[in-house]
Amino acid sequence: MEINKNVEDDGVIFMSIKEITEDTPGENTKKTCEKSEGVSGDEKSVTILAIESSCDETAVAVVRNGREVLSNIISSQIALHTVYGGVVPEIASRKHVEKINGCIRAALSEAGVTLDDIDAVAVTYGPGLVGALLVGVSEAKAISFATGKPLIGVHHIEGHISANFIENKDLEPPFVCLVVSGGHSHLVVVKDYGEYEIIGQTRDDAAGEAFDKVARAIGLGYPGGPKIDKAAREGNPDAFTFPQAKIPDAEYDFSFSGLKSSVLNYINQAKMQGNELNQADIAASFQKAVVEVLAGHAVKACKEFGYDKLAIAGGVASNSALRDLMEKECAANGIKFYRPSPVLCTDNAAMIGAAAYYEYIKGIRFGLDMNAVPNLPLGDRERRFHGRG
Ligand code: KG4
Ligand code: ZN
Repeated sequence: MEINKNVEDDGVIFMSIKEITEDTPGENTKKTCEKSEGVSGDEKSVTILAIESSCDETAVAVVRNGREVLSNIISSQIALHTVYGGVVPEIASRKHVEKINGCIRAALSEAGVTLDDIDAVAVTYGPGLVGALLVGVSEAKAISFATGKPLIGVHHIEGHISANFIENKDLEPPFVCLVVSGGHSHLVVVKDYGEYEIIGQTRDDAAGEAFDKVARAIGLGYPGGPKIDKAAREGNPDAFTFPQAKIPDAEYDFSFSGLKSSVLNYINQAKMQGNELNQADIAASFQKAVVEVLAGHAVKACKEFGYDKLAIAGGVASNSALRDLMEKECAANGIKFYRPSPVLCTDNAAMIGAAAYYEYIKGIRFGLDMNAVPNLPLGDRERRFHGRG
């Protein structure tokens, strides 16, 4: 995967990521969908313009047949929010408004297509920051209205899970997926495309949230996950034994607040006693406690429910210690391990295009009454807005 990065005047990083894939068959491309009851993915080539703006990345991609990324543009606001130690929702929304049209133009141009070549417009409509989501949703609705192309709403976490389809052409449901991001920690059985059963979730903090809070406490700053990942490489993971919570009545659920408090208590005590903090040792020991729980639950679920494929998804899935441990544990247990490249783990629109394709071929279409749903539950089919063919 090629990545070109540009830092713009306002500190926003603009990345253009183009996957190098085999040539696509040209002949049967670009037929529009006439039936809302669904089309067979084998018969047609389906090109989707996908938009993601649920948090602090304005992202637009063009994806063909769910697995081939023609362009993947990400305008990251991390540098802007770093000053405040976390994402400021109002700033995020404002920047999305400024960047989204440029990202759409760049995505179409890099893919070598125009809006005429697009079969559908897909957008993340939840969960996420309402003001941020609304920018992408309004843009997608406007394009759909202006071009008459179908509109498809995508759940952000379903997008993260679908990132696995892009680089693993052989991956088909059913499989187990560990979804770990800044707002979610879910253990999910992907029963079929778009069909999910949640078997475990966090009782308190999401894994990424714990990384971010601990990073702030030890002075690494925002965004915490990548900084802890890096610092931990220089540290001793056995320097401290931080607690790994087990939930007696729900063995696949997670809890990270006790672990976070234990790290914070240690830091406060060390400071009171005038001891110097060893950032690297704390980072490595904290990270070990998190990844052992995540990998342990995920592998156990595969064994108990009889699945031999395990995928990871979400920003925390780019954590190097988690990827290494999962790889090792899966190999030891005869489970095939799937993980997206780090750039497809953190927020991007290629994953939204991948998820949308499987909705498109089922005939799922949203009406222009689609709205942003900040707390949209995973796998919720009730709140979808249908009505446009
Ligand atoms: O999926 P994502 O980009 O956005 C959400 O949907 O939340 O995930 C962002 C989260 C942040 O909490 C960030 O600190 C964490 O993913 N993260 C990582 C790493 N890279 C990003 N956590 C641990 N290790 C990493 N390398
Ligand atoms: Zn995300």
